[in-house]
Amino acid sequence: MTPEQQRLVRDGFSKVAPNAGAAASLFYERLFALDPALRPLFKGDMEAQGAKLMATIGVAVDSLDRLHEVVPKLRALGRQHAALGVQDAHYATVAEALLWTLGQGLGTDFTDRAREAWTACYAALSGEMKAGAAGP
Ligand code: HEM
Repeated sequence: MTPEQQRLVRDGFSKVAPNAGAAASLFYERLFALDPALRPLFKGDMEAQGAKLMATIGVAVDSLDRLHEVVPKLRALGRQHAALGVQDAHYATVAEALLWTLGQGLGTDFTDRAREAWTACYAALSGEMKAGAAGP
């Protein structure tokens, strides 16, 4: 990711973070509309789940300029996801729901460049998670 993309992602996250609860519920609503088969994978409390998702994205956003430091955590998270039944193809559905939610939250601030920056950020995170799921 370029420094400008890192800035766009950080700025976007800081605007959405104060409304993390609302963003998380929009996200899950969209995700399950896109693929209702994903619903049964989520067994825990959705509010807590939403908070964890936002916290993880927050940590990643804080580490964009040194992502290598969180790679082991992302790979372990990817292995854990595979054990929960998450398949590689599901990452694209989550990406779509996430980008849609960001568009809702950021409105006109979600420019084409911001969308590209978030796409690059998600690709980096999900790439490591999928690598973790694939094996050591
Ligand atoms: C960059 C992408 C993703 C991030 C950062 C992320 C993050 C997380 C985190 C932090 C947790 C909580 C783990 C814990 O409790 O210790 C979690 C759980 C979970 N995630 Fe993800 N996730 C991602 C992608 C996905 C995808 C693509 C799916 C597929 C549907 C998915 C489905 C789940 C499920 C089913 C759980 C467990 C929920 C439960 O226990 O009820 N995640 N995720």
